[in-house]
Amino acid sequence: MFIVQIAPECAPVVKAGGLGDVVFGLSRELEIRGNDVEIILPKYDNLRSDKIWGMTVTYQDLWVPWYNGAVHCTVFFGFVSGRKCFFIEPHSQDNFFNRNTVYGCHDDVKRFVFFSKAALEFLFVTGKRPDIIHCHDWQTAIVPVLLSEIYRFHGMHHQRVCFTVHNFKHQRVTGAEILTATGLGRPDYYFRYEQMRDNFNPNALNLMKSGIVYSNFVTTVSPHHAHEALHCDQSFGLGHTLHAFRDKFGGILNGVDYDVWNPAIDHFIPANYDSSSIDKKYISKESLRDRFLLRKDYKPIIAYVGRLDDQKGINLITHAIHYTLRLGGQFVLLGAASNQGIHNHFMHQKRMLNDNPDCHIEIGFNEELSHLIYAGADMMIVPSLFEPCGLAQLIALKYGTVPVVRSVGGLADTVFDKDYGSTDWEHRNGFVFNNADYQGVESALARAISLWYSYPDDFRSLIIHGMNCDYSWNNPGHHYLNVYNLIKDK
Ligand code: ADP
Ligand code: GLC
Repeated sequence: MFIVQIAPECAPVVKAGGLGDVVFGLSRELEIRGNDVEIILPKYDNLRSDKIWGMTVTYQDLWVPWYNGAVHCTVFFGFVSGRKCFFIEPHSQDNFFNRNTVYGCHDDVKRFVFFSKAALEFLFVTGKRPDIIHCHDWQTAIVPVLLSEIYRFHGMHHQRVCFTVHNFKHQRVTGAEILTATGLGRPDYYFRYEQMRDNFNPNALNLMKSGIVYSNFVTTVSPHHAHEALHCDQSFGLGHTLHAFRDKFGGILNGVDYDVWNPAIDHFIPANYDSSSIDKKYISKESLRDRFLLRKDYKPIIAYVGRLDDQKGINLITHAIHYTLRLGGQFVLLGAASNQGIHNHFMHQKRMLNDNPDCHIEIGFNEELSHLIYAGADMMIVPSLFEPCGLAQLIALKYGTVPVVRSVGGLADTVFDKDYGSTDWEHRNGFVFNNADYQGVESALARAISLWYSYPDDFRSLIIHGMNCDYSWNNPGHHYLNVYNLIKDK
């Protein structure tokens, strides 16, 4: 099968969160299974060019219809850890992708709608006719609309679209301008409830809803979150739309690329290890302490690695830091916030805890450092308010770092409590709490820390159970191919 991923991120060349990991890992798995996979990305000015091999211009003169004219683009090709990637560079005064940032610009809707249009135009003019186009999140949600309403009439009628929603919170409710920009005439038609109109604002279009309506299949990134989105109001107002299209909606659990996230081969940690050599994990623990000037004492390290966003439970993370210190643990945090208030909050915590030899807060995005933390910590806390899948807990499991998580979304599908629940002992791999409050966090953290101190052998068993889990792309790869096959012949 010929599959094209149209995406705003692909690790390690451009990554803001898990979406980037997923686009890379899924593409690799699909290739291993004998498919031809290409990835189309914007050519951001802050791409990690050290991670692209053999970058060359592959298409000099791509003219993308835009408003009443056309924007000249150059398309580059390069390999990202073996994956075939195309990078679209527009030459216009808008400077869409020369912002030294991936997201967070006032014209993000325009930037990514343009990119979606350009990606389709590129497929069209180069004669590429994939069986499947796989789009991700609101940034590329307009692709199936443009395909059905424009490109189909130019000969692209056999292409089918799978649309993956990584996060229902970010839908992008926007005005009619994108219709004018992309050549979708007939505003009355697109503003119908059955089409692109937002479910709540009759004067606005909703990009994510459009992706759901127009795609051949819609997935979200875990079965539990698919249920929450349909039945528990976790789709941020898209529940009715999902119900209307429930026959083409399902949850497929994300995987983790064990060629990238694997303590047995990881280049970013001082000593490799697997479940038969766990003691070597403690070399990373020492190295993490050296790096952050933490006191060397008999204490567990609890870590948080992730975006600092309301979704992740800001108050709960903060509480976990102070509670851990109270219980005699050490805490390490690596995170970046796009919201200024949240950034200030953690900078304040950092200043407050600056002289504490048991705590380090690192604000920023640092892929290499994240590997050392996954390996060096004893536990990883993920107290999310909602979590479509979550990769942090899956990576932690592979590194023998016991997850302490809230039972929500993909966290509920992947972490099984040591003490409670009906799972067999061999499958219990962490600590889980239900309520998004301080008592919830405390109930799980206290059990985890006291097991570490009092019953190290039991704690070690949990580590091994976690490392034995298979959250590779093997299963999800199989499920995505089933979806592709299902829609391909329709
Ligand atoms: P989300 O996609 O909601 O941010 P996930 O848990 O699915 O959450 O994926 C987050 C990914 O981004 C993981 O690979 C995590 O290690 C990485 N990550 C998040 N924040 C940082 C950071 N500040 N530095 C390095 N890696 C980070
Ligand atoms: C989103 C979700 C996260 C998921 C990731 C990759 O950003 O917040 O739960 O793991 O996408 O699918």
